[in-house]
Amino acid sequence: MLIDTYGRVATDLRVSLTDRCNLRCTYCMPEEGLQWLAKPDLLTDDEIVRLIRIAVTGLGIEEVRFTGGEPLLRPGLVGIVERCAALEPRPRMSLTTNGIGLKRTAEALKAAGLDRVNVSLDTLRPDVFKTLTRRDRHRDVLEGLEAAREAGLTPVKVNTVLMPGLNDDEAPDLLAWAVENGYELRFIEQMPLDAQHGWKREGMITAGDILASLRTRFDLTEEGSERRGSAPAERWVVDGGPHRVGVIASVTRPFCAACDRTRLTADGQVRTCLFAREETDLRAALRATPEDPSGAPDADADAEIARIWRLAMWGKKAGSGLDDPTFLQPERPMSAIGG
Ligand code: GTP
Ligand code: 5AD
Ligand code: SF4
Repeated sequence: MLIDTYGRVATDLRVSLTDRCNLRCTYCMPEEGLQWLAKPDLLTDDEIVRLIRIAVTGLGIEEVRFTGGEPLLRPGLVGIVERCAALEPRPRMSLTTNGIGLKRTAEALKAAGLDRVNVSLDTLRPDVFKTLTRRDRHRDVLEGLEAAREAGLTPVKVNTVLMPGLNDDEAPDLLAWAVENGYELRFIEQMPLDAQHGWKREGMITAGDILASLRTRFDLTEEGSERRGSAPAERWVVDGGPHRVGVIASVTRPFCAACDRTRLTADGQVRTCLFAREETDLRAALRATPEDPSGAPDADADAEIARIWRLAMWGKKAGSGLDDPTFLQPERPMSAIGG
């Protein structure tokens, strides 16, 4: 079990499969991209599956989410999903993606055992998409979303970040579109995790702003908190139901007290929190005890890796520290942590 000193138990593992991305969202990374991790530093597919096996069989992880950068850029993704689906107990599996390439892979991912996807889309306007992501790929994302729904990777959730003067007037249109297409829309407050360190609290569209904007066109009733559990999204029932809209208010209404997450970066570091400033290396221990070529688990080596992971999580801080005057952004940007 991955328990911390505040009694929180991590049952949800987020695995970043690559720090690269094929978009350049202005709130995430600069035009020229970032200094990407070198290939030898990345965990191999075998190493990733081994860590997930250790987490699922020995540490109580029940749900695995694959993230990036952009996880569809990882060539071995379908194989990784397939191998994780064969684990006992089988974890629930989901993917957070920008949707580019999903049209081609949605069916294979479903067949491999992926349960569902979350797709990022900040605007319905192709020109705004191009300004915001610095790439002309709006249509690819819409096609990817449809493919995910058709393949049954459901519920398909859509993640939207609003920015003043760019897309903050679109909230009601986005909700109408999501309801019509059967996607569950969630608005995310922008967090100080951008590579350029340009985040300012004053420039952020808050949960309050978002709800006020949606209420100009929709009737929203808060869903009981008993249904929320440890989910970051608070949900509202739209016009009496059945559709819901979510708001992930990490900044103005933090949910750290209920956090059930542990994270693994693409280079094999455990992170206890999105905002953690420390990381714990698992890659060295993995590589010091390579698996037998037959794939047979080495129980002692795996137990040692589980021990290091448990110890890392024991040190998890109470919260993100965002409200602390001495708050410092983590060194790794969001794209290299995995959201
Ligand atoms: P589901 O609702 O189960 O589909 O998952 P999710 O909302 O956690 O997943 P997703 O990867 O779509 O993340 C949506 C947003 O929530 C992203 O902006 C994440 O960065 C943010 N998020 C995810 N986990 C955490 C967390 O532990 N803390 C904070 N503050 N934000 C998180
Ligand atoms: N703050 C909030 N959300 C962000 N995302 C990327 N960077 C940030 C940020 N600084 C969103 C993406 C994606 C999800 C994983 O996180 O748009 O939907
Ligand atoms: Fe890529 Fe996501 Fe960052 Fe946009 S927010 S550049 S899609 S990693």
